[in-house]
Amino acid sequence: MPRISEDLTDDIEEVLYTREEISERVRKIGEKISRDYQGKPLVLVGILRGALIFLSDLTRNVTIEHSFDMVGASSYGASTSSSGRVQITKDVEVNLRDKHVVIIEDIYDSGRTLAAIRDLLRVHHPASIEVAALLYKKVKKRITEVDIKYVGFEITDKFVVGYGLDYSEVYRNLPYIGVLKRRVYEETKGN
Ligand code: IMP
Ligand code: MG
Repeated sequence: MPRISEDLTDDIEEVLYTREEISERVRKIGEKISRDYQGKPLVLVGILRGALIFLSDLTRNVTIEHSFDMVGASSYGASTSSSGRVQITKDVEVNLRDKHVVIIEDIYDSGRTLAAIRDLLRVHHPASIEVAALLYKKVKKRITEVDIKYVGFEITDKFVVGYGLDYSEVYRNLPYIGVLKRRVYEETKGN
């Protein structure tokens, strides 16, 4: 059972990116997307639920006309390592035919989720599909390589929470991104 403190901040080992640093980076990505898709029909497609906060900040930093939608996928459950299966829980509702799609994801880890969502979206015949990931985890072994056009921050292979990222559906509301203390998800040894 996860042991979650009353004050969520007590469960954070180290803050990696503050609210201000994230906000500045998201603004830069928004500017870049606005330049790259100038004059093109653009749809941002966020992956529920982790990318919700990133998408809501990013859309307000994209200054050109666009729409957004969300797809549902889940792979982790209450664990800190991927279960290996990606379940699609919600499809898009906005028409993607001949539109330029940017998938918005919280973190690129094994690559399974992004690959599954990219395949799902291809069925809707968009003109192009690119990916924006807030975090790019540098892992030793990637299951599926996916090209990430827009990267917020590169991080080492640690379990992080906040700004949309959860552990067991908790910590998404933290305004910063931080490393979760291991004691939250590890059994205490020797007693
Ligand atoms: P992938 O399919 O292994 O790339 O996993 C992607 C999904 O796993 C993300 O959308 C996150 O929800 C979750 N995930 C991967 N790494 C972390 C992490 O460090 N913290 C929280 N969630 C993570
Ligand atoms: Mg998750």
